[in-house]
Order: sequence, then C-alpha cells, then structure tokens
Amino acid sequence: MRRILVTGQGGQLATGLAESLPAQGFEALLVGQPDFEFDKPATVITAFAALKPEAVVNCAAWTAVDAAEDDEAGAFRANALGPALLAKLCAEAGIPLIQISTDYVYDGLKGAPYLESDLTNPLGAYGRTKLAGEWAALAGNPMTSILRTAWVFSPVGKNFVRTMLAVGATRPELRVVADQHGHPTAAPDLADAIAAILARIRETGWQPAYRGVFHARAEQSTHWHGFAEAIFAGAARFGGPQPRVLPIATHEYPVKAVRPADGRMDGTKLTETFGVTLPSWQAGLERVLKALHPGG
Ligand SMILES: NC(=O)c1ccc[n+]([C@@H]2O[C@H](COP(=O)([O-])OP(=O)(O)OC[C@H]3O[C@@H](n4cnc5c(N)ncnc54)[C@H](OP(=O)(O)O)[C@@H]3O)[C@@H](O)[C@H]2O)c1
Repeated sequence: MRRILVTGQGGQLATGLAESLPAQGFEALLVGQPDFEFDKPATVITAFAALKPEAVVNCAAWTAVDAAEDDEAGAFRANALGPALLAKLCAEAGIPLIQISTDYVYDGLKGAPYLESDLTNPLGAYGRTKLAGEWAALAGNPMTSILRTAWVFSPVGKNFVRTMLAVGATRPELRVVADQHGHPTAAPDLADAIAAILARIRETGWQPAYRGVFHARAEQSTHWHGFAEAIFAGAARFGGPQPRVLPIATHEYPVKAVRPADGRMDGTKLTETFGVTLPSWQAGLERVLKALHPGG
C-alpha cells in the first residue's frame, strides 16, 4: 500500500497530509475542485480510475456550518453523497477508506466525554449531513474507518486561530464564547495521526477491528474563550496582537447553526486499536503558531 488518494486539496487537512504521508513512505495523490467535485460524480470516477489509489482519505467536505442551514441539500451532496460514491469505488477496488467526520454529530448534552458507542443526535444541518456520510461510507465499503475530529485549525485556510489573529490586530477587545467545550485539533497533528493509522494498516493488513467509528482529536479540551487566550499568549512571542478577550455566553453571539455545548470525545479506542494518540491542543497550537511565523 503506497498510493493514497487525498480529497479536498487546498483544505486544512489535505494540506497537512501532503507532508505527513510522504514522511511515512506514502505517495499523496491530492485532488481538488474543479477536477474532483462531488457535485459532478463523473469527475470523481475519472480521478479514481486515473490515479489507481491503494487507500483513500476523504478530507473534502462542506465545512461551512452556518451556510449548511440555508442549503442542506448542497451540504448533503458533498458530505453524504460524496462519501457514498467514494465508498462504492473503494469497495470495488478492495481498498480502505478513511472518512473524516465531526463532533457535531453529537448534541453535546452528555456532560462527559463521548464514547463512540454513544447515541448521535446532530443539532444542525452540517452534523446531519456528516452523520449521513458516516453511514454511507460504512455501508458502502467494508474497509471503512470513520475518524471524528473537532475544531480543526492550521496555518492555512479559514479557522479560529487565523481569524483571532486577524481580528485581534484590528480591535482592542474581543468577546469570545466561553460555554462551548471541545478539542481544538491542529490539522498537522491530525494528518500525522492519519499517516500513522495508514502505516499500521500497511503493516498488519486490514483487520476487522479497524472498521467503525473512532475519535481522533487533540488531547485535552477547552472552550473557545480559553483557546483565544492561549492563541494571544502564544502569539505574543512573535509580536502578535494582545487584545482583551472577554468571555461571553453562546446566546450573546447569535449564529445560524446550533452547536453542541460540550463535544468532548474520549480517544481511548483510537489509541487501543491503532496505537495512535494525538498531541494536546496546546502542543498543536504551538506547532501552528510556529508555522505561521517561520524564523520567528
Ligand atoms: N474545520 C473544522 O473545524 C472541522 C471540524 C470537525 C471535522 N472536520 C472535518 O474534517 C475534514 C477536513 O476539514 P478541513 O478543515 O480540512 O476542511 P476545509 O479546509 O474546509 O477543506 C475542505 C475541502 O473540501 C473541498 N470541497 C468542498 N465541497 C466540495 C465538493 N462538493 N466536492 C469536492 N470537494 C469539495 C474544498 O474545496 P474548495 O476549497 O474548492 O471549496 C476544500 O478543499 C472534513 O471532513 C470536515 O468535515 C472539520
């Protein structure tokens, strides 16, 4: 197993995999829009046939959580029908599919870290379509691992770290939600973890225990306010902005989609099955801040 098809080229996670996969001896075959577009299934079939992958990591997704409320059908095409087609192609080729999913499949009411066996109950369109994508990927291909991750940030793309640094540079004071808990997960760390999972599959061959849902998120959790404070504390070393960060409640920052208040997820199953544990979110933040300030 060497040739790994990575969808969502240019996105946060795919960009990370472009580095992490070669480090484990894999070849990363990156595909992105418009050459590879779930809304045009023929492009997916053509890319798959041309590249002849030996495993697939599906990072492509409709990730705009609030916009999904206005176009659930569009989000469903990307997040559910896309994985369904990929699963079919993977099953025909007899190869593994790693499908990336989200903590937003949960309602966040458990009050303790979720286990993979807990019931899902998405609160919004994004979570619903991602959950449908999980089912489609599992139903369509026996060799499917679902990795639920959370609060992804990276040196590229649209994410909370880059938004905070940009907004913090223009305002003396920011108001950030302090009553939603989760695992900020650095895309480069998640990409390393996925490469390590694929290395394990290469080493052992596909095992029945690899099929199913796994939580793949950074160790430790926080709320958005704590994350924002850590971002500015870390950025201070690079001469970054130092606004005051005021804690607010979710209802004080109205957005279209309802988010889970507590999306913490237990990561034991991933560690026990694949021997993989992600670093803490604090270590991930350090890594991303360094990447944003090369030579700093
Ligand atoms: N970001 C988060 O906070 C977060 C949290 C939990 C889980 N996840 C999951 O983690 C995975 C990776 O997320 P990410 O943060 O790397 O996402 P991202 O940076 O938003 O990248 C998503 C990629 O998907 C592509 N894409 C969107 N619609 C598509 C379609 N219809 N057909 C083909 N490609 C399409 C985008 O292409 P364009 O650039 O051309 O639009 C982009 O390359 C996704 O499955 C996401 O649901 C993300």
